[in-house]
Amino acid sequence: MSDVMARLTARLGGMIAYGGDYNPEQWPREVWKEDARLMREAGVNLVTVGVFSWAWIEPRPGRYEFGFLDEVLGLLHEHGIAVDLATATASPPPWFLARHPEAMPVTAEGVRLWHGSRQGFCPSSPAYAEAAGRLVEQLAARYAGHPALALWHVHNEWGNHNAHCFCDASAAAFRDWLRERYGDLDALNDAWGTAFWSQRYGDWAEVMPPRATPAFRNPGQQLDYWRFSSDALLALHRAEAAVLRRLSPDVPITTNLMGTLEKKVDGFAFARECDLVAVDHYLTAADPQAHIDLSLNADLARGMAGGGPWLLMEHSTSAVNWQPRNIAKAPGEMRRNSLAHLARGADGIMYFQWRQSRAGAEKWHSAMLPHGGTATTTWRAVRDLGAELRTLRPVAGGAVEAEVAMLFDWHAWWALELEARPSVDVRYLDLIRHWYAALWRGGVTCDVVHPGTDLSRYRLVLVPSQYLVTDADAASLCRYVEDGGHAVVGFFSGVADERDHVRLGGHPGAYRGLLGLLVDEFLPLREKETVALDDGTTGTVWSERIVLEGAQAVRTFASGPAAGGPALTRHAHGRGTAWYVATRPEADALERILMDACGEAGVTPAVSAPGGVEAVRRAGADSAHLFVMNHTDETVFVPVRGTVVTGAARPADGGVEVAPGEVVVVRETAGA
Ligand code: GLA
Repeated sequence: MSDVMARLTARLGGMIAYGGDYNPEQWPREVWKEDARLMREAGVNLVTVGVFSWAWIEPRPGRYEFGFLDEVLGLLHEHGIAVDLATATASPPPWFLARHPEAMPVTAEGVRLWHGSRQGFCPSSPAYAEAAGRLVEQLAARYAGHPALALWHVHNEWGNHNAHCFCDASAAAFRDWLRERYGDLDALNDAWGTAFWSQRYGDWAEVMPPRATPAFRNPGQQLDYWRFSSDALLALHRAEAAVLRRLSPDVPITTNLMGTLEKKVDGFAFARECDLVAVDHYLTAADPQAHIDLSLNADLARGMAGGGPWLLMEHSTSAVNWQPRNIAKAPGEMRRNSLAHLARGADGIMYFQWRQSRAGAEKWHSAMLPHGGTATTTWRAVRDLGAELRTLRPVAGGAVEAEVAMLFDWHAWWALELEARPSVDVRYLDLIRHWYAALWRGGVTCDVVHPGTDLSRYRLVLVPSQYLVTDADAASLCRYVEDGGHAVVGFFSGVADERDHVRLGGHPGAYRGLLGLLVDEFLPLREKETVALDDGTTGTVWSERIVLEGAQAVRTFASGPAAGGPALTRHAHGRGTAWYVATRPEADALERILMDACGEAGVTPAVSAPGGVEAVRRAGADSAHLFVMNHTDETVFVPVRGTVVTGAARPADGGVEVAPGEVVVVRETAGA
């Protein structure tokens, strides 16, 4: 994958990709020329075209009109701007659902969702697959050899709006998927535990998607339905990719994934089907720690890209339009966000969208060229960043230094949050974010990776939450520690297998030997209840009664239902060490726990910087670049050795002073 990104960078003259979604169909032809001119002025070298152009390319069924795309691609090429051409399948035109009402998505309650927004189709609809397939054939045949074409952009944000459909076509496709997975009904009945509540199936026709029911739905059925739904979209992705590979074999293929912003789509599975990993990321304006979520998602993008560079396909220059209160970015925030992605392995910085729409549902979403045109702060920031990225071109291709891995798995996320669990407060992303933020505050960079990843190159592996784990992935973590690795495991991990069956023989099932303990009983806490630990810190959400079986108690509960029992344990296992955290520690306490583990594992931050300062190192073949991002309101001193490449930094003894909100990139001196 990194080769593909390197080829794209070379195609762009060695530059970091810079640009955004370009939707010229929303504008008269005269505007296109101005667009191309201003793109040049801003340093834009790559734009995504055609994401929502289906109705323009195929205005009536089977009638293809390429005039507008021919003209736009020609104009962009003349201006030296490369094109990431979308397959346009994300929004079927009104004629499609008028002809195929059966392709409308249906909710679990049986409500049909009509045309008039986007992604208005059932992922298992044969009519959609056929219409999309025909469109992609036409596009690929026409543009395969076009000189502007640098990348194919399959669909757009698979499953963002329509991942779960409960219609009859989905039911039939679900049965096919289950037949493939289980072979026969006995195996299905066993996997779903249908001995419970008289749910035994005697005929495939009785098997349904988990439509609305009077009481809890079968968890095995639900979990498989999440898997099936992600796979149904993946099948559509593969079908498009197959056409593109056949007709346009020289052009790499990507799709814009959404990381933690999309629960329903298994990002790792899609990443495996792309030549180049691309992601979108949007800040949650109400979250004061939104920049930490950005870092988490950038580290996950890198994890999906196998550690290599990736492309930031979309983020926003300022406010979005889809949150309750759409807060504009503060001066300098866009640059800080963009450079944080670059620091964490992005070799391309792109936005939604180039020119702000004047009509439609996204007209109040920011863009590179706002309604106010070139007289705006945002435009100036966009133009300045374009110039800065040209200066930063030697960063492209560099590998992000990370000695820690954090395990992330969509299947564990799906399973943890099914109905009827010990506590609704145990939320997958909450735990991932809480642990990630603690590590971030400690200044340590981590790769966010799938549990099946080879862990041997990491000094420390963090497992914030892994309710469901396959035998193979559990064995891999155990082996990693036995061979000398260090791991920290969060509560309620290792307890279920991939069918969501409880692992018997004592909790925490797969990790009882690794952690050297037995959980006698889970003792989840009441809403907002806190329990004290013996070091004066507190935990929330969870506690449990632990019997030590070789592990040592590092901290004990001082109050609550598990008072007197272990809250944090440490177990020497094989040649390595495994810690276990039996509650949701308050932020500072968790940071100390993880920093102690880092210390024992020999992990150090990229640089010793004050709290709230993000420092990440990208090392290329010739040089290493240290990115320092000051998220605080104070000027900070950061010890660095090297030359400041971009950003306002005041030289100080042994380092630099970095102003509030500023980003400084330092080309490090060898041996620093
Ligand atoms: C997503 C979509 C874009 C646009 C943006 C708005 O990322 O891919 O088409 O809707 O959201 O934030």
